[in-house]
Amino acid sequence: MSNFTEQPEPFIEKVSILHEESIIIGFHLTEYMIRDIILNIPVSTYALITDSNIASLYLENLSNQFKNIASKLSLSKGNNSVPPRFISYTIPPGEQSKSRDTKADIEDFLLSQACTRDTCIIAFGGGVIGDLVGFVAATFMRGVPFVQVPTTLLAMVDSSIGGKTAVDTPHGKNLIGAFWQPKRIYIDIIYLESLPERQFINGMAEVIKTAAIWKESDFVILENNVASIRDAVLNPKKDIPFQGATLETRTPSQSLLLSVIRSSAEFKAYVVTHDEKESGLRGLLNFGHSIGHAIEAIMYEVLLHGECVSIGMVKEVELARSLGHLNQVAVGRLVRCLESYGLPISLDDKNIRKFVGNRRCPVDKLMEIMKVDKKNIGDKKRIVILSGIGKTLEQKATFVADSAIRKVLSPAVSIIPVNSSSNVPKHITMTTPGSKSISNRVLVLSALGSGTCRLKGLLHSDDTQVMLVGLQNLGGAKFEWEDDGETLVVTGGSGNLKVPDKEIYLGNAGTAARFLTTVCTLVSAETKTETRNITILTGNARMKQRPIGHLVDALRENGSKINYLENEGCLPLEIAPLGLHGGAINLSASISSQYVSSILLSAPYAKEPMTLSLTGGQVISQPYIDMTIAMMNSFGIKVERLDGDVYRIPKGCYKNPSEYIIEADASSATYPLAIAAITGIKCTLPNIGSASLQGDAAFAVKVLQPMGCTVTQTVTSTTVQGPPIGSLRPLPEIDMETMTDAFLTASVLAAVASNQNDGECITRITGVANQRVKECNRIAAMVNELNKFGVTASELPDGIQIHGAKIQSLKGPEKGVKCYDDHRVAMSFSVLGCVVPNGTIIREKKCVEKTWPNWWDDLESKLGIQFDGLDIEPEHDLHDLSVKDKTKTSKGKSLVFIGMRGVGKSSLGKVAANLLNYQFVDFDIYFETTLSISIHDFVEKQGWSAFREKEFEIIKSLLQSHPSGYIISCGGGVVENPSSRDFLKAYIREKGIVIHVVRDIKEVENYLKNLNRDTARPAYGETFIDVWKRREGWYKECSNYEYVSLTAGNGTDDIDPSNWYREEKDFSRFLKFIVGHETNQVNYERKNKTFFVSLTYSDMSPALQHIPTITHGVDAIELRVDLLSNNLQTGSFVDYVSNQLALLKRSSTFPIIFTVRTQGQGGKFPDTQEKEMFSLLAQALKWGCEYVDIEICWSHDLISNLIKNKGHTKIIASWHDVTGTAKWDSEEIRRRYKTAEEYGDIIKIVCRAESVIDNFKLQEFILSLKTRTKPIITINMGAEGQLSRVLNEFLTPVTHPLLPSKAAPGQLSVSEIHQALHLIGQLPKKNFYLFGTPISHSMSPVIHNTGFETLGLPHYYDLFETENIENVKPILQDLQFGGASVTIPHKINIMKYLDHISEHAKLIGAVNTIIVENDLNGNRKLIGDNTDWLGIFHLVKPLLRIGSSSSGLIIGAGGTSRAGLYALHQLGISTIYIYNRTSEKISDLASQFPTYGIIPLTSLSQTLTQPPQIIISAIPATSNLEFPDEIFQFNRGIIVEMAYKPRRTNLLKKGEEKGWIGIEGIQLLIEQGIHQFERWTGKNAPRNIIEEITLKKYKE
Ligand SMILES: NC(=O)c1ccc[n+]([C@@H]2O[C@H](COP(=O)([O-])OP(=O)(O)OC[C@H]3O[C@@H](n4cnc5c(N)ncnc54)[C@H](O)[C@@H]3O)[C@@H](O)[C@H]2O)c1
Ligand SMILES: [Zn+2]
Repeated sequence: MSNFTEQPEPFIEKVSILHEESIIIGFHLTEYMIRDIILNIPVSTYALITDSNIASLYLENLSNQFKNIASKLSLSKGNNSVPPRFISYTIPPGEQSKSRDTKADIEDFLLSQACTRDTCIIAFGGGVIGDLVGFVAATFMRGVPFVQVPTTLLAMVDSSIGGKTAVDTPHGKNLIGAFWQPKRIYIDIIYLESLPERQFINGMAEVIKTAAIWKESDFVILENNVASIRDAVLNPKKDIPFQGATLETRTPSQSLLLSVIRSSAEFKAYVVTHDEKESGLRGLLNFGHSIGHAIEAIMYEVLLHGECVSIGMVKEVELARSLGHLNQVAVGRLVRCLESYGLPISLDDKNIRKFVGNRRCPVDKLMEIMKVDKKNIGDKKRIVILSGIGKTLEQKATFVADSAIRKVLSPAVSIIPVNSSSNVPKHITMTTPGSKSISNRVLVLSALGSGTCRLKGLLHSDDTQVMLVGLQNLGGAKFEWEDDGETLVVTGGSGNLKVPDKEIYLGNAGTAARFLTTVCTLVSAETKTETRNITILTGNARMKQRPIGHLVDALRENGSKINYLENEGCLPLEIAPLGLHGGAINLSASISSQYVSSILLSAPYAKEPMTLSLTGGQVISQPYIDMTIAMMNSFGIKVERLDGDVYRIPKGCYKNPSEYIIEADASSATYPLAIAAITGIKCTLPNIGSASLQGDAAFAVKVLQPMGCTVTQTVTSTTVQGPPIGSLRPLPEIDMETMTDAFLTASVLAAVASNQNDGECITRITGVANQRVKECNRIAAMVNELNKFGVTASELPDGIQIHGAKIQSLKGPEKGVKCYDDHRVAMSFSVLGCVVPNGTIIREKKCVEKTWPNWWDDLESKLGIQFDGLDIEPEHDLHDLSVKDKTKTSKGKSLVFIGMRGVGKSSLGKVAANLLNYQFVDFDIYFETTLSISIHDFVEKQGWSAFREKEFEIIKSLLQSHPSGYIISCGGGVVENPSSRDFLKAYIREKGIVIHVVRDIKEVENYLKNLNRDTARPAYGETFIDVWKRREGWYKECSNYEYVSLTAGNGTDDIDPSNWYREEKDFSRFLKFIVGHETNQVNYERKNKTFFVSLTYSDMSPALQHIPTITHGVDAIELRVDLLSNNLQTGSFVDYVSNQLALLKRSSTFPIIFTVRTQGQGGKFPDTQEKEMFSLLAQALKWGCEYVDIEICWSHDLISNLIKNKGHTKIIASWHDVTGTAKWDSEEIRRRYKTAEEYGDIIKIVCRAESVIDNFKLQEFILSLKTRTKPIITINMGAEGQLSRVLNEFLTPVTHPLLPSKAAPGQLSVSEIHQALHLIGQLPKKNFYLFGTPISHSMSPVIHNTGFETLGLPHYYDLFETENIENVKPILQDLQFGGASVTIPHKINIMKYLDHISEHAKLIGAVNTIIVENDLNGNRKLIGDNTDWLGIFHLVKPLLRIGSSSSGLIIGAGGTSRAGLYALHQLGISTIYIYNRTSEKISDLASQFPTYGIIPLTSLSQTLTQPPQIIISAIPATSNLEFPDEIFQFNRGIIVEMAYKPRRTNLLKKGEEKGWIGIEGIQLLIEQGIHQFERWTGKNAPRNIIEEITLKKYKE
């Protein structure tokens, strides 16, 4: 039953390779192919090999047709002719099959089928099949004929052509193989129709590659026909059977696709023919592959070859650009082309982020891998260097120096400052990128215009790129490149726009988003089709937070239909094609002038002539509006400005001028001019001058000139000569309203403007408030980053104030400048970096791409500033303790607190406000001040229901006017009103946070009774409990988080302050978690094994005292909710659990794993109670648990619904095989793994071991997981499975002897696991020491050996007493050396033996800890650190009143005081008094720490303006200094005694008499020791036992 007779004779094209026309291309070739093979490669057996994916789609049909045709042909030959045999064999799909094993399988199959030399093999599939089967053909019976039938795009254009065959081995890809040419290659493009999209995109990388190195005309076709080519593959037209087989039935898209594929195939065939044994020419095919292969070597498990090559191509053209061989235009074109087909252009790309996860490609590793290429010479590598699109520098790969490659690959730069010996040219002339504003406007104008316009000097940036693509998607205009891409030829579409095929994606390009919003309203209704009837504008995450509300409001009012798809007021937008109405239109223009320009640009195409009135007070950035109007004029439309802010725009069509030259971007131009100013050279810019329309063009005259530069300007050019280095003058006051973008450049100059004799060198920049809502909050960003250099800067209401500093005093931040993904921040700080001594690191170098993609190249080659590439790991917040750094630059959505009166909303709300640096608003007070009437009176006069209505109105307007940065505490009854409830629910849907504060209702009632306050809000004559019962459900549905408070607020006197402190601490943890500032989760990247302990109690209360012991050595705690039982039986189970969890969180800071294990999975929770289970899990998310365990056996819909709301909670998707029948090598486990991977952030699979062998099977299973980005917990239960618990890496469940029972059979304790690891050689013993003298009485051995012993670690800590530091050298070199403490007299001279000194230790000037670490390459490194300050920091921090800007006093200015000083600064104490007998030492300190706010004291009895909250004594306890009462003015301050003998010093005694809290020297010693211990072992120290034993010994 076959329909082959109906198949028309296909139209085929042939390409010759190695002088034979053996490549055949067309559509629907099956019958042709079968006939051709049988007739021209006559054998007795045809063996087709394919993979199971392809087999299921095509094999049956193909095999039927083959047999049919074969018998027909043999019939026609004559009676006795036997038709040839057709056999087939299917292998599993995927790269894993390209192995020696699979090759043997195929060979065994062929032999079993008695195949002989008289066999032809057909490789039917993608590159894997082609390579593998080709190799089989090459060696079977010493070589048999074979044909290739490629079914992937990659195989069609690349792998099937050329005769390279191979298999992979564990040592690498393609290591074993042969050259074996196929007899025929049938490229039947129809197979692409079933190809998954990602595979199609993958193949496009090679297609684009070929065009890029070989033929610009092909490249142009690819650039301009993205939609068509994608459609031909992904949405093929199937109007008639066998469409495309003949020329008559071929669609234009099909023809295009065929020509693209043929072109690539032809090129590959050409190269193979002319250069078969790969030298020269063939090397060109390697474009993008040198770097791409290195990336692939790291990412092969998660990324496809083409994806890696795509990123490789981008890096290699950036390299060509940095070497000066390729211009930015070409780079931009290639990048855009790759992107438009969906290929990634960097590892950060959104399309592949989900595959890549947290993996990185360290630059060292990439370089290492590239080194292996046989063709490298010394420190040079061979890379194909493009010199234009379609051209290469040489007809082969070019040698490039490693240093250049490293620079391009590095994510950060380290700028080398200029000095007298650097080779900086004295006069530079350069052109800078075209104006973004003009480029964006001219693109819209010319695309909407009629006629052809040649645009010169267009900016090539992300911004203009997305604008171009966006306009292209909307149809109408045509874009072509000329002069190597220097000129863009636009053929306007006269405003005829259509609904685009897909979403218009704008990245983070604000201008494009604003302009296109109005352009999209122009789309006419006639272009609607059934599938495409609406235009969607979208962008990246940041874009989705940028406001566009005012513009949308105006357009909606004018009759356009626009919907917000996610957040109110932001992209993505959905815009109906209705045309723009026109007539009168009102726009609020106080946020962005771009809204105004957006409407102006599209206005001529409205149905009615438009009158645009600007409302809402002051219009900002008028110059940009003027620019738009002037440019519209150049395109033939005259805008009339009526009185005030009213514009009239006539109807019409823009007339494109034949040529338009775009002036330089004035904001970009500020950077080279500023470099001239700061480095004292001369710089001329020829494409911007006094006639410029751009506001920032005034920068030279208005900012640089008054700062001391010589400025000369013509109409079109600007020249700046800077004064000698270090002699810029501050500008006392400058309003930069007309050039807001240039304020960042001005700020960095102000930072070094110190040439003023009288007084301070302060520059105040004002008028730039709008810069708070740019790519980031730029004012805050500049303040933050300048501070890091040691420059004093602060925010003004509408600007910034900067204290100019001497250049020599500046210091680049150790961790580099953070750029907040903002190009201007990056470029400004690179200006500053030109002079800062010892270099400046700028992270995220790639953010400059937004406006000046080749900034770094220009900085080096044109401006002569040198820099190195630097591979900086992502920031570790772990060690970032400075309070200052934590002030967030951009504020999140406002937080709303609801709950019954008296639960602590206000107290907690204020804590939250302090912590997040938000503003606190008490709703009741707000209500009363807004309406000037007390709530009591309002209710009295108008009644409750009127009050509830008013309450709703006010809460709504309050949140609208305070959308971010506020904490709003609502009245208890807010949920009584349905409208208010709906409003709160909507707020949650828009990703707002509403926190329901709950507390035991009886306690609250008592608390309120005791308060006995006037009850402004009577309880409706009901009991308090009844009110609660009515509201409880409402509170729950109106909140997305729930905080369980155990203590009343701090407003009352009878509250124990330590309880409130614990409450505050727990609340801070909750809050930081839900907003994502600190999620308290276990670091997966950590090299150490991590553990969690399962709490198997039925009730927490009696167990809490044991928590500090039970958690020894663990990293998290599992609360087994199913084991809890509410013995009192009061209240619901959920309430009981909430209380249990709250108790647990008060007594430990470890992250919580919330687990409800069902009976079927080995727990106690009934298997049938699905609803109850999910309401518990949903609660766990509301309570902000760090981890929630979800069993994967529940229904898909329920699980996926639940995890939608997971916030920052990590989901552990778990599966337990309690039956003990599942095997690790079974299909079932793979299936479970896949399911768990789909839901979980962490995968947990638990089986049961029958014998020890099952543990090895488990390990094999893990090794077999090729793609693994998520952490996995795999365990075997039972005694036989204990080995699996020893070997598991991440979050192994453990027990502790104190627990009532083990959570699972076979569970071990941390100590047992460590001992086992030691015995099997996985945890070698290390020796630790104390270096110093005299040390015989030291407590350190007790501290550390107690720790080692408790955790079952094999290590030992010993004293090493010596006066001569030389003696420690052999110990340091010993490989068994694990680390050391260092004390007097070696804290300074030890440094010379160490490889690296931490920044803390450098600043304190002393090392007290040596840590042994292995770097990326496995080299052993000795690190010097200081934990003395950490001891102080951690003991004091919990006692400090959070958020108060307080002062401290240090007594003593010797060596020990430095750790104290450093700790105080890190605690955020801004004024530090220092007293010392002699003042000299204080001055020393003050000059070394100029930013610490040090005030010297000559006497302790001096009156202090800010009484210190904390006193640190850093003098010997034996000193007889008197402590006058004056220093204890602060109420309940803190004393830190650094001496530790005797235990109770005079200061401590006196302080405690005054009601102060004392911290003893021995406590400090233990605390710093605990930090040493944790740094050495990477494990949480068993703190309570260390303390107990050490104090006991200390007393003895
Ligand atoms: N020999 C060479 O010169 C050369 C050149 C480049 C790449 N390669 C090799 O090619 C291999 C990669 O080839 P690939 O990208 O084609 O991968 P592939 O063969 O693994 O195919 C990709 C996936 O698509 C499926 N598939 C293939 N055709 C399909 C179709 N028509 N419809 C639906 N699904 C289909 C496959 O089953 C597979 O899952 C690598 O091993 C690489 O080393 C070889
Ligand atoms: Zn390739």
